[in-house]
Amino acid sequence: MKILVATDKPFAKKAVDGIREIVEGAGHEFALLEKYGDGAVLAEAAADADALIVRSDKVSADVLNAAGRLKIVVRAGAGFDNIDLQAASAKGVVVMNTPGQNSNAVAELAIAMMIFMARTQFTPSTGTEIAGKTVGIQAFGNVGRLVGAKAAALGMKVSAVDPFLSEEQIAAGGAEPAVSVEALYANSDYVSVHIPATPQTIGSIGYKLITSMPKGATLVNTARKEVIDEAGLEKALEDRPDLKYITDVAPDNYGTLKEKFGLRVFATPKKMGAQTAEANINAGLAAARQIVNYFATGDTRFQVNK
Ligand code: 3PG
Repeated sequence: MKILVATDKPFAKKAVDGIREIVEGAGHEFALLEKYGDGAVLAEAAADADALIVRSDKVSADVLNAAGRLKIVVRAGAGFDNIDLQAASAKGVVVMNTPGQNSNAVAELAIAMMIFMARTQFTPSTGTEIAGKTVGIQAFGNVGRLVGAKAAALGMKVSAVDPFLSEEQIAAGGAEPAVSVEALYANSDYVSVHIPATPQTIGSIGYKLITSMPKGATLVNTARKEVIDEAGLEKALEDRPDLKYITDVAPDNYGTLKEKFGLRVFATPKKMGAQTAEANINAGLAAARQIVNYFATGDTRFQVNK
């Protein structure tokens, strides 16, 4: 079987070497496509691939249609909103993710972002400390739980909300359960967003929630830019000069936000939450193993389009 690693944002070399070793060790063919830019290039490269390993790369219906031999796509990471699941299912292509494998890197970035904003983006102005402040974690999954543990270790109060977890499960994870998303925002000096981008969540964080945050609060988004209602965010920052926003991937209106709000906003130039050697190795190798196992035994444990 031909297994193509297609990453516009490449993995660390050590991760690529490890993937190659697993693929070739199991008797498969390894192929690599990096920094390809255009989706048409990916479609062409995928034409004779039996399996694909991707990151945030767009696996559209066009790519899937061009990949006539494709049997499985593994998103080396958590969020699979970049893959057209309906088109994949229609073609009988199995789609998996590698949950948890890059979570620590994203959680570390969320903590770093809180400190970066508390310390006025490392400018000489007087900042604040995060110890003693409350962080509200919106979605208490693999990343959210790690953010909670790290924040608690830094002396923060941690609360969380998650539509898929009971209050007992949230408490067992070390956070105070918030009664609702609204209550979480209203009572948190920092809100750290960890919801996936789905039809239900896209645009769900807007003016009302953001302006309900306490004085001087900061919204931290290491999830997806799509979950923020950008017009609502802009108006919230306008009406509440005490609020701040930091995000791992620029909103479409970032130029305007930066111009209007200066050091109260910050966006990473490229999504970098999972961009550590460790996360690349963990997620990349897990993806390779999942594909090899799928071909060897039909193991579909991490399938997301069942
Ligand atoms: C994820 O969903 O796993 C993260 O957002 C990481 O995405 P990346 O692999 O494109 O860095």
